[in-house]
Amino acid sequence: MLSSFRLLLLRNPSSSYRSLSLLKNQAYVDGKWVPSTSCETFAVHNPVDNAIITQVPDMTIEDTALAITSAKSAFHSFRKTTAKERSDLLRCWYNLMVQHSEELAEILTKENGKSLAESRAEIKYGNSFVEWFSEESRRINGEILQAPLRNRKLMILKQPIGVAALITPWNFPHAMITRKAGAAIAAGCTCIIKPSEDTPLTALALAKLAEDAGFPAGVINVITTSLKNSATVGKLLCESPDVRALSFTGSTPVGKILYEQCASTVKRISLELGGNAPFIIFEKSNVDLAVTGAMACKFRNTGQTCVSANRFYVHNKKFDEFIDKFMERISKDIKMGDGSREGVTHGPLIKSSQVDTVEKLVNDAVKKGAKLHCGGKRLEDLGPLFFAPTILTDVDETMEICGKEIFGPVAVIHRFDDEDEVVRMANSVPVGLAGYFYSEDLSQIFRVAGKLEVGMIGVNEGLISCAEAAFGGVKESGIGREGSSHGVEDFLDIKYLCIGNIQY
Ligand code: SIN
Repeated sequence: MLSSFRLLLLRNPSSSYRSLSLLKNQAYVDGKWVPSTSCETFAVHNPVDNAIITQVPDMTIEDTALAITSAKSAFHSFRKTTAKERSDLLRCWYNLMVQHSEELAEILTKENGKSLAESRAEIKYGNSFVEWFSEESRRINGEILQAPLRNRKLMILKQPIGVAALITPWNFPHAMITRKAGAAIAAGCTCIIKPSEDTPLTALALAKLAEDAGFPAGVINVITTSLKNSATVGKLLCESPDVRALSFTGSTPVGKILYEQCASTVKRISLELGGNAPFIIFEKSNVDLAVTGAMACKFRNTGQTCVSANRFYVHNKKFDEFIDKFMERISKDIKMGDGSREGVTHGPLIKSSQVDTVEKLVNDAVKKGAKLHCGGKRLEDLGPLFFAPTILTDVDETMEICGKEIFGPVAVIHRFDDEDEVVRMANSVPVGLAGYFYSEDLSQIFRVAGKLEVGMIGVNEGLISCAEAAFGGVKESGIGREGSSHGVEDFLDIKYLCIGNIQY
């Protein structure tokens, strides 16, 4: 049986060693730290050097069934809690997250590879969802309706939907959990969190803080699964009639599979899927501002972000100025390396398949005549998974990279002359998560914002995510919204109540 090692010592670059009390190596089910029933484990790697950080339980469908039973039984009592009680619980969880921010950031950097600065920013961002939903939980109100008959009273009640399954990705191991779990718990649901096999440690650290915050057993469960078991565990979460809602962040192809599997139980589903964001720089724009936005938007998490700028379109008259300034900022501002070292701004990609894909796309484009302005290669001196920040122009439709979501530090930059033409190109993909454009022309801002087929738009801004905003996409980028006052809707049932025959 696995033991949890609360005080595992890890090397810290700034001092010598430091203890990480939130580093867990067991799963969390029904308020207990448990191994898998098979006693099998899988290794979690640090993408910087592929070193094993620890082993975690490889949960199977048997373990998942136990987690569902636990969440279902906890729901019977948790659904009766008041909004204020849930608000207090979330606030307590949030306070512990704030208190342990630095340790959470270190764990995140270890398993994901992003720099400590980026991890700190994600922890702050992720924490803000729990704070937000601790406030929102007290504002989930029903409605009193105008009845068509005098002797009736009509109302709408909002009730928690039940057990929610939350399947989260490796690129934001903290924020994607808090954005979903904060909303689910605010609504009065219990949940089963299935983090990515690449980054289960942040999820377990959050479960530890939930335990310390006093969450009743079964309200939050975290099951860790290897890639081998991921599909069957996901299928059970989709098909179990005891799970009433499924929220997933990840790729569009996997989202489509889950969508189909959820049909058998007509489950409530929210999907936050692939992006392929256009980033447009119009003639009347401030190029310096656009370069700053492009740096943040393209290279956040080394380009592994659903809302990353993926297709740049620059007006012909601004093209050369933008490329020159963008290249200058890349060489000045980006320092790749081991994310746990001070001064490093960007880490490696998450796994070798990701680096292989990025390298293949770039090589194919260059072979077919694309112009390489910088990068274009692995940085093997830094580690096995590093790829240099890359700029490509003269990309056309014969190249595989054209119009493809890259999920790496590669900027593909096209030219354009005309507003209608660029909007048509921006809308030419089947997905529509985020879009960005830079313009100082007010009429153009409203015109283009109205026409872009995306769920979120940054105008003269490259970083737009926050707890207050409604995060989500249109077309094949997904269903539902996270964050904002809309984030709880996916975890609520609406019940209409008609009280008749009232005697006056
Ligand atoms: C994502 O890449 O899926 C999330 C990014 C964000 O929340 O800003």
